[in-house]
Amino acid sequence: MCGWRIVVPNTLPTCELSVNTPGVVVDDSLRHFYLRQVTFRSETCAIASIVLNDGNVIPQLGFGVFQVPPDDVSSVVTTALEAGYRSIDTAAIYGNEEGTGRAIRDFGLPRDEVYVTTKLWNSEQGYDSTLRAFDASMDQLGLDYLDLYLIHWPAPKADRYVDTFRAFRVLKAQGRIRSIGVSNFTIPALERVIGETGEVPVVNQIELHPRIAQRELRAFHDKYAIATEAWSPLGQGTLLDNPTIVGIAEEVGCTAAQVIIRWHLQSGIIVIPKSVTPERIASNFDVFGFELIPEHMAAINALDEGARIGPDPATFAAGLEG
Ligand SMILES: NC(=O)c1ccc[n+]([C@@H]2O[C@H](COP(=O)([O-])OP(=O)(O)OC[C@H]3O[C@@H](n4cnc5c(N)ncnc54)[C@H](OP(=O)(O)O)[C@@H]3O)[C@@H](O)[C@H]2O)c1
Repeated sequence: MCGWRIVVPNTLPTCELSVNTPGVVVDDSLRHFYLRQVTFRSETCAIASIVLNDGNVIPQLGFGVFQVPPDDVSSVVTTALEAGYRSIDTAAIYGNEEGTGRAIRDFGLPRDEVYVTTKLWNSEQGYDSTLRAFDASMDQLGLDYLDLYLIHWPAPKADRYVDTFRAFRVLKAQGRIRSIGVSNFTIPALERVIGETGEVPVVNQIELHPRIAQRELRAFHDKYAIATEAWSPLGQGTLLDNPTIVGIAEEVGCTAAQVIIRWHLQSGIIVIPKSVTPERIASNFDVFGFELIPEHMAAINALDEGARIGPDPATFAAGLEG
């Protein structure tokens, strides 16, 4: 097992993060960067990052802002940044890009120390409309460039995701986006976008939590070096009273949410839990001082029943009405 140890002088504890998952590395610059967090968060050790197939690096643990009201999002994102998160996931359809961008700018970190993702909504798919929608998102965010742009859903009924991804490639070539990816793409949609554009998305952000582990799709991702990113990683809170998870949490001495987040991290998955509650925002990030043992991982893996909370990506067509 490959592991490394951070020793922080004086009052702070020593902790160890094992880096034993294929595809997961601890990038030197991020290691240095996150080490600085240890100086004010004694429980936090370090955060792993994932190297994407275009060579860029994404923090493995980020923060999602779905359903955070626009008026609240600025203070929620500020709380997340204070807690140590350095990756924020929003979307045009969430209606909170403006407050998200404002919080990131006002927090005052160098731009390259916060990883920002947003998503193109279904109604804007198509080559020209994508270019316009991207400009609108960047105006809302108030940022010079975007780290990751995702096609929010394939919306196969519209049959425009290939042209949409071609527009993404142009924006990337112009330096306006660092990395381009997709969300909710099925294997047939991935095969088509790769086959017709010659470009492999860096990420597929999909519904993934212990009740839907998406094994077949993840195996396809591995074949093409597409990173798997989990949305609704806590099952929107519905998994937090699951007896298996609660039992492990009691054994380990942490919360049910921390157990699930560790399961994602140790499975090599990028994870973006959401909360508007300051204590939860902090504790969901405080997951680098312990490790689940193989028996815990196996017990959580056994909860997979392929049960979605969200819509079926093969048919989801919101935004295309009329
Ligand atoms: N690409 C897509 O189609 C898609 C779809 C859905 C989501 N996403 C992304 O994924 C992110 C996360 O997914 P999600 O927001 O759907 O769900 P989630 O992160 O699985 O769960 C969020 C829910 O869990 C609660 N919660 C969080 N931490 C908790 C804790 N420690 N203890 C108890 N309850 C806790 C939150 O409550 P409070 O907020 O009240 O604290 C909220 O109700 C989104 O914010 C978004 O960025 C993407």
